[in-house]
Amino acid sequence: MSVRHIIIYPDPILATVAQPVTFPLSHRVTTLISDMAETMYDAPGVGLAAPQVGASLRIAITDTIWRNEENKKTDTRHLQVWINPVFTWKSEQTSIYEEGCLSVPETYEEVERPSAIRLRWQDEQGSTHESEFEGFMATALQHEFDHLDGRLFVDYLSPLKRRMIVKRMKKHFIE
Ligand code: NI
Repeated sequence: MSVRHIIIYPDPILATVAQPVTFPLSHRVTTLISDMAETMYDAPGVGLAAPQVGASLRIAITDTIWRNEENKKTDTRHLQVWINPVFTWKSEQTSIYEEGCLSVPETYEEVERPSAIRLRWQDEQGSTHESEFEGFMATALQHEFDHLDGRLFVDYLSPLKRRMIVKRMKKHFIE
């Protein structure tokens, strides 16, 4: 396992729609998933999508327990792997959370999203699951799966704010 380089906004790969994953997973893909976990815990972050490490595949990982919304650390890791996720329902009710992203360092902005979602996804064995999520988890998953469609949380902000963020990324984070 190794920590991979996290791609910084506004790199075009972050704006690319990622490809579905086929089963059984290749060695390359299982290595990608363990490297993503290593990279997320090293950063540290609550979620990471494959495009953020340069792989245009519909895979995201989260651990919203290890570091929850208040950034309180627990010692136990609860890694969740989401492959080919699809929303089957989103609530009309919305909630606002302050979001950040490993691809947009040191930037936190409020984003409004549906408060609850129903989701279908596959695990690493290719089995399909469906479940409902709400609260911080619902926001985290929507944020991660946006990455798979080439969308970042900054895309919900005003053009002016986005321009300022691009400028800051270019000045401080992109070599
Ligand atoms: Ni992100």
